[in-house]
Amino acid sequence: MAVPQIIPDKVPKHIAIIMDGNGRWAKQKGMPRVLGHRSGVKSVREVTEAAAQVGVEYLTLYAFSTENWNRPPAEVTALMSLLVETIKGEIRDLNKNGVRLLAIGDIEALPAGTYKALMDGIEKTKNNTRISLVLALNYSAKWEILHATRMLATQAAAGTLNPADIDEAAFENVLSTKGIPDPELLIRTSGETRISNFLLWQIAYAELYFTPVFWPDFGKEELLEAISDYQNRERRFGKTSEQLG
Ligand code: IPE
Ligand code: IPE
Ligand code: MG
Repeated sequence: MAVPQIIPDKVPKHIAIIMDGNGRWAKQKGMPRVLGHRSGVKSVREVTEAAAQVGVEYLTLYAFSTENWNRPPAEVTALMSLLVETIKGEIRDLNKNGVRLLAIGDIEALPAGTYKALMDGIEKTKNNTRISLVLALNYSAKWEILHATRMLATQAAAGTLNPADIDEAAFENVLSTKGIPDPELLIRTSGETRISNFLLWQIAYAELYFTPVFWPDFGKEELLEAISDYQNRERRFGKTSEQLG
């Protein structure tokens, strides 16, 4: 396949990815699911570097949903250990490559070891400016929206916020993505065409891209292909095509 041509000034500032298909990738090879997750780490590395190279500023990766707690305990434990191991092992390269680590989701409710490794990774990479890698961990969009609503309601009840002042900006200010622009492009791998409780508020106008490729097989070329597809779309935001002319 020819390398997709990317138009430099039309690269999305923010790409969000639902990394899916690790288990099926492993199963296909007769391996345990956990090896699929391990292989997925290589894709995270490759895609982060490729995104930075073309000028993407924020890359958000759905790594663990609140619903994923319902998986067999051994898989959950393996995923949490993999996270700790990966974050600890990558800090040096993240710094070398200018990657700032951020997290969204109910991260305080993660197991103590995972939380600690994550906070350490965030702290040690906080001055990097080439790209921000946002990990969605123990994340669900409904959780995030309820949490934001509760914060605003608390302020209103305390008399520090006038309900009439609750606009989009005020709401976004209490989301866990505060300060991060909305993703222009959302990618899901593995052929599933659903959102699975990811960034419901933030993807209101995102372009959606679905690929059958399993996450461990998704790399630089697949990312560029998705960006190229995005660049060929007309984003109308309610206007007519003629108005955009
Ligand atoms: C995505 O791969 C990783 C996580 C959800 C943690 P899956 O583990 O969902 O892989 P499939 O969908 O079972 O193939
Ligand atoms: C979504 O993938 C969550 C992550 C990628 C972390 P799942 O594989 O858990 O989604 P469903 O349950 O098939 O929708
Ligand atoms: Mg899945």
